[in-house]
Order: sequence, then structure tokens, then C-alpha cells
Amino acid sequence: MKKIKVLISEEKINNRLDELANQIMDEYKGKDIVFLCILKGSIFFTVELTKRIKNNIQFEFVEVSSYENNESTGKVKLNKDITQSIEGKEVIIIEDIVDTGRTLAFLKELLLEKKPASLKICSLLDKPSRRIANVKADYVGFAIEDKFVVGYGLDDEQNLRNLNYIGYIEE
Ligand code: IMP
Ligand code: MG
Repeated sequence: MKKIKVLISEEKINNRLDELANQIMDEYKGKDIVFLCILKGSIFFTVELTKRIKNNIQFEFVEVSSYENNESTGKVKLNKDITQSIEGKEVIIIEDIVDTGRTLAFLKELLLEKKPASLKICSLLDKPSRRIANVKADYVGFAIEDKFVVGYGLDDEQNLRNLNYIGYIEE
């Protein structure tokens, strides 16, 4: 069995989520916000963050997959699109982790065509050393080193999403 070590504890995550929620509430005073959750990795982060935000909130969900496993181009594909118009709305994309940045670069371009009033990115984790695409999150929970992490929504081949902390697999 794989041994998992704690990288970021549930308590640390909770404290950081309080800060992020306050920052977002400050910057979006009196505004409705559409939180656009990228399935499946961002579900925990979306729920826990938005529970702390008092604005009027709507949710949208997209699902993307990338082909990075079988080819080097790192092409991203949209499996599930949003179901309501985001035209004229304040949209925040919620991502679990920005790695190469290809997923967010792809989504940003796609969503900007739908003419939101604003489009920001909030990511629980950021691995800046791995960046290929020119994309930057507006809100970041934690910047981490180049380690493969699991838990709190993040998976290892679809498993381990339901850990209440962020861990890494000890080799
Ligand atoms: P990007 O397109 O390279 O930025 O990758 C984004 C996606 O890759 C994330 O949404 C995750 O699903 C996945 N990913 C990247 N790094 C990790 C990791 O360390 N653990 C689990 N999933 C990861
Ligand atoms: Mg993901």
C-alpha cells in the first residue's frame, strides 16, 4: 500500500480558506458571483470556500480532461460545459491546482468568449515551477514545490480525493 504523508493539514487549509473568503468578499462587495467549479478535483475546495462567502452565489460546473498521458502536446478537452449564461456576470473559476497552466489557459479563452463582466481564477494550490502556459491565478491558497499531491479533491488515478488534508505519496 502507498504511504501518504501530510503536506498541508486540514487546520491549515481551513485557516487559509477563511482568509481567501474574506479577501473575495472585500473585493466583490455587494456583487453576485458565479463560482465555476472545475470537476472533479475542485469540488471540496468549491464547497468549503463558498460556505464562508456571504455574497449571493451561483454555481456552474465544467469538466475537462487533458491528454498529457499519451502525448506531449498536453491538449485539453471539454467534457462538460456550463448550463447557464455567464454573460455580464462576475465569474470566478475554482481550480484545485495550477500545474502546467494548460487547463486554465484553455478554459479562460473558452469562457471569455461567453462575455462575463469579469473572469478571475482562484486555485487552492499552485506549482509555479511547472508552468508552461502563460496563466496566473488571482487567488492562490498555497504555492507548493514540484510534488505530486493528493487529497482534498485531488486524485491519484481517481483515488484518494476524499482525504481531508493535502498529502503526497512517499516513494
Ligand atoms: P495543468 O493543466 O497542467 O495546469 O494541470 C491541471 C490539472 O492537472 C489539475 O486540475 C489536476 O487535475 C492535475 N494535477 C496537476 N498536478 C497534480 C497533482 O500534484 N496531483 C493531482 N492532480 C494534479
Ligand atoms: Mg483537475
